[in-house]
Amino acid sequence: MNLVEEIHKRKTFGIISHPDAGKTTLTEKLLLFGGAIKTAGAVKSNKITQHAASDFMEIEKQRGISVSTSVMGFDYKELKINLLDTPGHQDFAEDTYRTLTAVDSVVMLIDCVKGVEIQTEKLMEVCRMRSTPVISFINKLDREGRDPYELLDEIEDKLNIKVRPLSWPIGMGKSFKGVYSLYTKKLMLFTPSKTKINIDDYIEIADINDKKLDKYIGEKDAAKLRDDVELIDGIYPEFDIDEYRTGQVAPVFFGSAVNNFGVQELLDCFIDIAPYPKPRHTDEREILPSEDKFTGFVFKIHANMDPRHRNRIAFVRICSGMFERKKNYYHVRHDKNLRFSNATAFMAQNKETIDEAFPGDIIGLYDTGNLKIGDTLTEGEKGMFKGIPSFSPEIFKEVENLDAMKSKQLDKGLRQLMDEGVAQLFTFEMGARRVVGTVGQLQFDVIQHRLQHEYGATCRFRPMNLYKACWFASKNKKKLEEFIKSKYRHIAKDKDGKLVFMAETRQWLLMVQENFPEIEFHFTSEF
Ligand code: G4P
Repeated sequence: MNLVEEIHKRKTFGIISHPDAGKTTLTEKLLLFGGAIKTAGAVKSNKITQHAASDFMEIEKQRGISVSTSVMGFDYKELKINLLDTPGHQDFAEDTYRTLTAVDSVVMLIDCVKGVEIQTEKLMEVCRMRSTPVISFINKLDREGRDPYELLDEIEDKLNIKVRPLSWPIGMGKSFKGVYSLYTKKLMLFTPSKTKINIDDYIEIADINDKKLDKYIGEKDAAKLRDDVELIDGIYPEFDIDEYRTGQVAPVFFGSAVNNFGVQELLDCFIDIAPYPKPRHTDEREILPSEDKFTGFVFKIHANMDPRHRNRIAFVRICSGMFERKKNYYHVRHDKNLRFSNATAFMAQNKETIDEAFPGDIIGLYDTGNLKIGDTLTEGEKGMFKGIPSFSPEIFKEVENLDAMKSKQLDKGLRQLMDEGVAQLFTFEMGARRVVGTVGQLQFDVIQHRLQHEYGATCRFRPMNLYKACWFASKNKKKLEEFIKSKYRHIAKDKDGKLVFMAETRQWLLMVQENFPEIEFHFTSEF
């Protein structure tokens, strides 16, 4: 198979949702329908064993929260699907944001009872930044949920994306009878079952006016479905794959993941319409997946899986060419060649050593501290991949060393944890104060625990009154210098040495913006 054929076979995606909407359940069902696992319940029950086997941080086990982003590859109908799992806990949202830089599309899961929730809104903002194609799955139709039209309106309003239903529910909750696929013109009747998979239970109803429909769902529901289909076709323009692939419209499916219902339609449509790997930009040029030379970037690092050996595994998304084990690759940031003899691919729940991998694939590279998030690997080319920005944290705390004898360990631990992207470190020029910024409180506990257990360093975090970290720039060099001079007490350096304005309050930031109109302020490090 040549490179282009390999690329066309690959679909790399992630599932985004608010915690509890059913992401774990849907993941399991997709693997089940994809044939990657054999019995329902496998992912759930494996959650614990998987923790033990692949969740590298002791603290994760203790807290029972999966902070790791794992990759599940499986083959389905001649395609190779890579599903990137994202941490559900909101405190690890930054991890999820970065994972989204490595996918080509997402499935957005919504609980039909709760509708669009806050975490989904935030994740969708990230998808919009990169125009990531989105398919929506409205879950838990076996429950009394909200009116489907209302849910669709809410997605459009809150998530700022147009929708196009490709399936439609017949009833809901106790009266839920099934869904009609507007995409395949088939009816699927609902039988609640957590174990049975209804692969061939479709009823072909090409014409919605066919009397067959009345026989299956009763006259009343058939009449209602006909009205609904007419209304949908009236309200929503026909599904346009290009609009979907450019992130303008999200096709919507309804179902119940726990009951294996609606998942097959989702998967079958997904493989039809989801994009295969597309070109990506470095700071020098656009790179096509079909280029001969290998390129890829690191979007995730798991460290210290084994406390006896300081090793880490870097997750690399391949963007072009073919990756080959034991070949030397160029590390752009360090300007040196590295050789990886232990590359792994991720298949369903296993890791396996691989010899080659292609665009869209995620590989795990064992590393002893050379790689950090955002790093680019190439065959000599110097451009760095863009689109892996840092976002302004929400909570800031100053690091206070509690053991002067261990300051070297603390420095090293902090540096390595930041390389992994556990949190962001800002260093003020004034007084060399170090401030850790995170999305949630939990990370401070993780950092403290890991510093102590992995590096033998003890520290305390002192809360700081900061509103946002703002990366800034200006076309006017003189004004930029003036700004830096006037606000030097409030300016820190981020992990890459970029200057960041640490705004104390929203009002103050607005005032500063007014006083320095020629300075642009951004809440992300890439703009
Ligand atoms: P998450 O990863 O997004 O956090 O969600 P997860 O899959 O763990 O699902 C959250 C809860 O929602 C689970 O119930 C799960 O069984 C339930 N769920 C998932 N899909 C459906 C569905 O289609 N219908 C209904 N009614 N429930 C669904 P739980 O009580 O927290 O766990 P469990 O004891 O059922 O495993």
